[in-house]
Amino acid sequence: MPVPVFESPLLRMPRLGLGTWPMLGAECQASVETALGLGYRHIDTAERYGNEAPVGAAIRAAGLPRDEIFLTTKIWHFIEQQTATQDLPSFRAAFDRGLERLGLDYVDLLMVHWPSPRMDLPMVLDGLAALRASGLARAVGVANFPAGLLAQALARDVVPLAAVQVEHHVYLAQERLLALTRPRGMALVSYAPVVKGKVLEDPVIRRIAQKHGATPGQVALAWLLAIPGVAAIPKAAGAARQAENFAACDLVLDAEDMTALAGLPKDGRTVNPPFAPDWAA
Ligand SMILES: NC(=O)c1ccc[n+]([C@@H]2O[C@H](COP(=O)([O-])OP(=O)(O)OC[C@H]3O[C@@H](n4cnc5c(N)ncnc54)[C@H](OP(=O)(O)O)[C@@H]3O)[C@@H](O)[C@H]2O)c1
Repeated sequence: MPVPVFESPLLRMPRLGLGTWPMLGAECQASVETALGLGYRHIDTAERYGNEAPVGAAIRAAGLPRDEIFLTTKIWHFIEQQTATQDLPSFRAAFDRGLERLGLDYVDLLMVHWPSPRMDLPMVLDGLAALRASGLARAVGVANFPAGLLAQALARDVVPLAAVQVEHHVYLAQERLLALTRPRGMALVSYAPVVKGKVLEDPVIRRIAQKHGATPGQVALAWLLAIPGVAAIPKAAGAARQAENFAACDLVLDAEDMTALAGLPKDGRTVNPPFAPDWAA
């Protein structure tokens, strides 16, 4: 089955992509090249990952038409320790440096990587709006915004936010965010979608995998892909796991599977750094 595509007036994006953190340098470039060779057409990077250069090099080396690849990057911005980029020109400069590292003419999706209590939200939205208007970022969005903060950003109506990227998987629901994104045609991009391999040990997921002749990782990804408006970006360094995750697009879970997976605890956040926002906000 081909990779399903998220499509709305705001965004067209393959619903399965490749995460690239924490790969660096030649390993990262080789991994992205392998993924593109397997058919991946959605790649996720960020300024903070330190791998925009190898990701861009892999995209250029693949020789595919640029418009066949969906590339996301993120500006590391507005956390407590970093205040230097708190104005529009430096926001723009941070983006320009990323584009230069990528060696590309534009990105498909630009996100602010994390919010912070000291964030100047109107300025961030103006910065995203300007980059979207320039065409250098075809779409813009935010990552790690809790629902309350996303609602505030949307209420300002400065720029159409096309996506939010957050941790989301069989152990962590994101219903409040989905209630905001779905009616607006925004995508919810799920990071840590195979819970960094933790799903391998889960008896419920293993049983479902066995029933379908699939793997636990594929079950975790198929669960996400069954949710309308959701995309997933599993990171896998090597070809075997990349192919395994890609094939999750072929796995259709039945009602009994979905009920069993719905019964797993849904409050299992794994990414919660000291600068994280109040997730309940
Ligand atoms: N916006 C943010 O703040 C944010 C935060 C975290 C992550 N992300 C993005 O989301 C991507 C994915 O998240 P993540 O890397 O934290 O977690 P993840 O994709 O759930 O897990 C990746 C880890 O699980 C292993 N793995 C991959 N597929 C597997 C499978 N089918 N079965 C078992 N293990 C498997 C990988 O190992 P191998 O590589 O050795 O195969 C890797 O160690 C990141 O790479 C990054 O691009 C964004």
